Amino acid sequence: MRTPTPSVYIRGMGVYMPERRLTNADLERLVETSDEWIRTRTGMVERRIAAPEDSTSDLGTRAAEKAIVDAGISKEDIDLVIVATVTADQTFPSTACKIQAKLGLRTDIPAFDMIAACSGFVYMMQVANHMLRAGDYKNVLIITAEKLSSIVNWEDRSTCVLFGDGAAAFVLTKCNEPYVGILGNILGADGSQGDLLTLPAGGSMNPASYETVRNKEHCLTMAGNQVFKIAVRTMSECCVRLLEKCNVTADQIKWVIPHQANMRIVDAVARQIKVPLEKFCINIEKTGNTSACSIPICMEETYRAGKIQPGDLVLLTAFGGGFTWGATLIRWK
Ligand SMILES: CC(C)(COP(=O)(O)OP(=O)(O)OC[C@H]1O[C@@H](n2cnc3c(N)ncnc32)[C@H](O)[C@@H]1OP(=O)(O)O)[C@@H](O)C(=O)NCCC(=O)NCCS
Repeated sequence: MRTPTPSVYIRGMGVYMPERRLTNADLERLVETSDEWIRTRTGMVERRIAAPEDSTSDLGTRAAEKAIVDAGISKEDIDLVIVATVTADQTFPSTACKIQAKLGLRTDIPAFDMIAACSGFVYMMQVANHMLRAGDYKNVLIITAEKLSSIVNWEDRSTCVLFGDGAAAFVLTKCNEPYVGILGNILGADGSQGDLLTLPAGGSMNPASYETVRNKEHCLTMAGNQVFKIAVRTMSECCVRLLEKCNVTADQIKWVIPHQANMRIVDAVARQIKVPLEKFCINIEKTGNTSACSIPICMEETYRAGKIQPGDLVLLTAFGGGFTWGATLIRWK
């Protein structure tokens, strides 16, 4: 298979994880749960919690600074900023505009947010890929940043044990080498089931009121059991379709980097797409579910550990609120 040039590849990566660790033992003191339940039902052991004074744009800015240095370019070389988050600092101005200002980037470049919840990274990869291929851009800064601790209901044991904070940033760049970088991408969405995983209040449909605050409607809610089954099906289906589309067989894949929502979801996807679990990169025990950040945080960690080499085929897949889902195939440059 040949991708038409220009190709779009990952030139630099940066991750920022907050210092504070929230362990399963800490959660046992907050709600009626147990370390044993959380480990066996989710695979999670601890997650990071951002400092109260840090907003999502602070987390994203720190990750972005590292990514720009890692890419070996200067801030002036960035010509587009996209941020995927469900915990924007505010509805507007966008978190992308805030990060642009905090980094001191040029002002003759666009900056915008996009919402695809936990699928935000694979959605953003596709948007950046096409904007780079079609447009005048050379270096695009894509950032995922989440302060999920700010929208978690700390009295709801079915959700509060699952989520953590973090940020990751990648610099994507155009090059003329064929068949490297992003080889293909498949995305999907089903808005008809959106209420199964949602932040009920605060928007135009249900504006903030004393009642919405009292009822904790500014916190996320999830019908975990139903979400679980749809996540397994959609992630598996889009991986299989993407491999077919790219004319790649499952055994050619070096690594699969899945969204880290639940270890049992990862297990089930591995069985469905017939890729051994040993090829799946997992860091869920340390991070919990960091929404759009989970794939890039895990990818950066896998790369820094020396496990991803030039030429390796890496498959990413995610599922999230919306519902949204997707898969991306990368040949490492
Ligand atoms: C949330 C999730 C871990 C729950 O696991 P589950 O096996 O489906 O558990 P259930 O929701 O069926 O609940 C089973 C029991 O555990 C209990 N339970 C739920 N959370 C608990 C906790 N933290 N500690 C102890 N017990 C808990 C429930 O109350 C229920 O008890 P009951 O049988 O007495 O009613 C799982 O459904 C999941 O991961 N869902 C998908 C999440 C996801 O993919 N998100 C992706 C988008 S971000």
